[in-house]
Amino acid sequence: MATTIATLQKMKAEGKKITSLTAYDASFAKLFIECGIDFMLVGDSLGNVVQGRDSTIPVSVDDICYHTEAVRRGAPAGFVVADLPFMSYSQPEQAYQNAARLMQAGANMVKLEGGEWLEHTIQGLVTRGVPVCAHLGLLPQSVNVLGGYKVQAKEQAQADATLAQAQKLEQAGAQLLVLECIPASLGKRISEALSIPTIGIGAGADTDGQILVMHDMLGLNSDYLPKFTKDFLAGQGSLRNAIIAFRDEVQQGQFPAPEHSYR
Ligand code: KIV
Ligand code: NA
Repeated sequence: MATTIATLQKMKAEGKKITSLTAYDASFAKLFIECGIDFMLVGDSLGNVVQGRDSTIPVSVDDICYHTEAVRRGAPAGFVVADLPFMSYSQPEQAYQNAARLMQAGANMVKLEGGEWLEHTIQGLVTRGVPVCAHLGLLPQSVNVLGGYKVQAKEQAQADATLAQAQKLEQAGAQLLVLECIPASLGKRISEALSIPTIGIGAGADTDGQILVMHDMLGLNSDYLPKFTKDFLAGQGSLRNAIIAFRDEVQQGQFPAPEHSYR
């Protein structure tokens, strides 16, 4: 049976950890589904890992559409989230038009980065039939505002503000929330406070699911592996075994371990 947002919602209700990886092409999308990964994200991280750029900012809607079409062909029944890239949703009308393109390329849901300023856009998208995944914590599209890729919401006031934002985005209609690079304690707090599933990357072990960039979890970024990721191919001998190891470790609560988390 095809995975839907209802499947992910049910997993949260039952306390079953959700597993997710980024995917950019048909072959890996097919493999991820065969290995029981619950959903895939066509992330704008493709700017880094596929295009060789140093940020996600140059990625276009055309780029995301191209990769979403490929992923959809490889995984006809998979649940596919696609990133709206930098400045493609700065106004609601623009967001609707670009979200339509991603949905028509094969996405089941679109993801956008940011807090309160997106409430109206999220409400408008959901009303028009586009499911939305929100994204809080480290926002890579804002790297130039943040002054680098750093852990976010380490102070109590920022942590409280991030929780309040998460609640507003849920109220606006977001059905999934990615939390990137925040203290594990905040990942837990937000996950307990929301009824929608939270998917963490560097947000500790207590989010409802975990996502990693596929290249990172296969040890392909040899010059720089962020603390929150792990090379699952090491010692496994095959791509298939590496993906299954990731799935099993997340489902059994072994990944992320304290050494992959921020305090
Ligand atoms: O683009 C991406 O890969 C992402 C994940 C890090 C969540 O947004
Ligand atoms: Na992204």
